[in-house]
Amino acid sequence: MTDLARSREFYVDLLGLQVTYEEPGALYLRAMEERGHHCVALVQADRAEVGVLGYKLFDEPDLDKAAAWFAEEGLPVEWVERPFMGRVLRTHDPWGVPIEFYVRMDRLEPIHQKYGLYRGVRALRIDHFNLYSPHVDEQVAFYNRMGFRTTEYTEDSETGKCWAVWMHRKGGVHDVAFTNGIGPRLHHSAFWTANALNIIDLLDVMSTTGWLNAIERGPGRHGISNAFFLYVRDPDLNRIEIYCSDYQTVDPDHEPIRWDLKDPQRQTLWGAPAPKSWFEEGSLFAGASLNQPALKAQPIIAP
Ligand SMILES: [Fe+2]
Repeated sequence: MTDLARSREFYVDLLGLQVTYEEPGALYLRAMEERGHHCVALVQADRAEVGVLGYKLFDEPDLDKAAAWFAEEGLPVEWVERPFMGRVLRTHDPWGVPIEFYVRMDRLEPIHQKYGLYRGVRALRIDHFNLYSPHVDEQVAFYNRMGFRTTEYTEDSETGKCWAVWMHRKGGVHDVAFTNGIGPRLHHSAFWTANALNIIDLLDVMSTTGWLNAIERGPGRHGISNAFFLYVRDPDLNRIEIYCSDYQTVDPDHEPIRWDLKDPQRQTLWGAPAPKSWFEEGSLFAGASLNQPALKAQPIIAP
């Protein structure tokens, strides 16, 4: 974050995340349903970039299995120290996306029924990451081997290649998604809220308190995922989605849903296409070099 005080206004006042630890140059935040110490760590820096994406594993032996698995894949594995966390395994995927896995994080008291603490869009939990990928099919195959399952995908009918894919572990539509584009870059991080009215309230507040230009796309209903959504940009232009009412995918026999890239209801069920910025702009990952996408198919873009 290049201006941590301004980022604090965005993440704490607008999104309603709770500050769990603050020191000069760093801010740790959790959403209202979360018991782990933090879901986001914001760090003051000269350059805006994403340091790492973190995933929680089920139990301690899984960390060692993950270390062995990534080493067999020929990827670097390293044990790193992180505040408020137990053992942390750091690696990156073959496209250079920095990833850390952990099991233990300091536990905090439940606050989901402390209604006096709710602010802004009342974010309940972090939901998913969406990444630009220069090689969607290959990256999806890698994450599938890692254990993620596909729920929905967009196909370019001319080449038969996937243009975007949504994958999950936790039983929602996705924990991670990949979208064709210059990458690797982070397209957005999403926070879950209880209902669409929270999103409408956020729009009213942002549009009358100096944040109008930070509203990028929506509100709307996605075709893919069936979720109600809004996309906003933080002060460093990192894209944040506010997301609610997707569906449950715990049934292991769920068949992935196919969408055609040219289907106008794919992005937004009501038909409105996303703006050009939504397909082109994203956040850089620390240490990753960028590649052009092999697939040249074009989505429908708003005029
Ligand atoms: Fe999303």
